[in-house]
Amino acid sequence: MAKDKSIFTCTECGGTSARWMGKCPSCNAWNTLIEGSSEPAVGKNRFGSVHASLAPTSEVLPLAQIQAADFERHPTGIDELDRVLGGGMVEGGVVLIGGDPGIGKSTLLLQAVDALQRSGMNTLYVTGEESGAQVAMRSRRLGLPDSQVPVLPEIQLEKILHTLQSRQPGIAIIDSIQTVYSDQLTSAPGSVAQVRECAAHLTRTAKSTGTTIVLVGHVTKEGALAGPRVLEHMVDTVLYFEGDTHSNFRLIRAIKNRFGAVNEIGVFAMTEKGLKGVSNPSAIFLSQHAEPVPGSCVMVTLEGTRPLLVEIQALVDSGGPSPRRLSVGLDRDRLAMLLAVLHRHAGVACMDQDVFVNAVGGVRISEPAADLAVMLAITSSLRGKALPKGFIAFGEVGLAGEVRPAPRGQDRLKEAAKLGFKVAVVPKANAPKKNDKAFEGLTIYPVERIEEAMQVVRGLD
Ligand code: TYD
Ligand code: MG
Repeated sequence: MAKDKSIFTCTECGGTSARWMGKCPSCNAWNTLIEGSSEPAVGKNRFGSVHASLAPTSEVLPLAQIQAADFERHPTGIDELDRVLGGGMVEGGVVLIGGDPGIGKSTLLLQAVDALQRSGMNTLYVTGEESGAQVAMRSRRLGLPDSQVPVLPEIQLEKILHTLQSRQPGIAIIDSIQTVYSDQLTSAPGSVAQVRECAAHLTRTAKSTGTTIVLVGHVTKEGALAGPRVLEHMVDTVLYFEGDTHSNFRLIRAIKNRFGAVNEIGVFAMTEKGLKGVSNPSAIFLSQHAEPVPGSCVMVTLEGTRPLLVEIQALVDSGGPSPRRLSVGLDRDRLAMLLAVLHRHAGVACMDQDVFVNAVGGVRISEPAADLAVMLAITSSLRGKALPKGFIAFGEVGLAGEVRPAPRGQDRLKEAAKLGFKVAVVPKANAPKKNDKAFEGLTIYPVERIEEAMQVVRGLD
C-alpha cells in the first residue's frame, strides 16, 4: 500500500487525524483511531463528481409548498420484523441491521426477501460473506427450495451498483457491508474508510432509485457496529439483534427509525426452520428455578409496546484488593452508581466485594426502571437469602435514594399479575389507586425510598 499519506479515522465520530493519537482530537474518545490511507486528491468529491460545487442547487421552497408524500411501505409478512420497521420496508429507505455473528441476520433477511419476492416484488440478495451455494443451502434448510430470489455473490461496489442500476430491484440486501469494497479507494477492504464510502454510495443509490437497501453490519466485541458510528447517521433505520446465541430467543430492537417508533422490539425463536415470531413474549426471559435462589430478582421492562419480564441476577463475592464490578446487559456505570446509593442510603456495603450482574437471556436493558431489581438482586446475593417466590420489582433509583416511577407502571403490574406473580415492590406513584381486577393475586408494596424497599423485603423473609 502506498505509504505516502496515512490518515487515522475515529471509529466513534468519523473524525480524522494526520498522526496516531491515543485520544481522538474531535470527540475525545480513547483508542478509537484506526489507520487507513487517505484518498488521492484529484479534484473529485467523495461521490466522484468533479465539479459538484458548481452544480445548480435545488430550489428553495417554503415547507407548505413541498409535497409531503407518505412513504410507500412493503410489509415483509414477518410480523415481528414489520413491527420494528414501523409497518414494513420503506421505498428508498436504508436499513442497517447489526448483531453478533451467528445470531440470525442472514437467516431473517433471506426469509424476508423470499416473502417479498413471492408477493411479486423484484428483489436482490448480494452475498459477500457466503457463496451462492451456501445461501442456497440455507434456503433449503428454511424450507424454501423453490425460492426465486436472485442472488449475486459480489463484493465490489461498482459491480453491485451496476447490477442495482440494471435490475432496479424493489429491495436489495447487502450481506454484509463490511465485505464490500470500492476500487476507487486505496484503503484496504473492511477499513473504516471503505465501509463508510460504500455505505454512502449505496444510500445515495437507494434515494435516487427508490430501491430499499438493507445493509448487514457486524458488531464488534464492544457492542458497536464495526466501522464508524457515521454509518448509523447515514441510514434511515438501525436495527440491532440481541440475544444469547446459546438460547433460542432473539430480540430485534430499533434504535433509530426515521419511519417509525424506536425502542419497539421484535421477538423471535430460532427453530430448525429459521426464525419464527413469538407473539406473546413476556415470559421467555425468565429462567425457571424450581425454588427461588439468592441473587435473583425479576423485573418488568417495557420498551416499545409490550411488557417483558426479565430476570436480573447478581453475584456478590469477596474480591481482591481492587474488587470488580461487571455487568452483562446492563450499564456498568449505572451499576457503580447504584452500589454507591446502596451504601449511602441503605447501609449495604459492597466495597470489598466483586459484584457481577446479568440480565438473563442476552437481553440488554437500558431503561433505569431496572435499578430497583438490580439493587434487590445484589442485596439478596449478599445476604444469601432468596426473594420470595413470585416476586417482582421495578423502579428508577436516584442518587438521593428516592425511588422514581417507571413509565406505564400499571401496564407492567398487569402483565406480572397475568403471569401469576404474587408480590411486587414498586414506586409509590406506580401503585394502582383503586382496586382493579387486573391486579388480582398480586400484593403490591409501594415504596418511596430505597431503604423502605429494603425494609419491605426483610419483612417478607
Ligand atoms: P445466520 O443467519 O447465518 O447468522 P448471521 O448471518 O447473523 O451470522 O444464522 C446462523 C445460525 O442460525 C447458525 O448457528 C445456525 C442457526 N440456524 C438454525 O438454527 N435454523 C435455521 O433454519 C437456520 C437457517 C440457521
Ligand atoms: Mg450472515
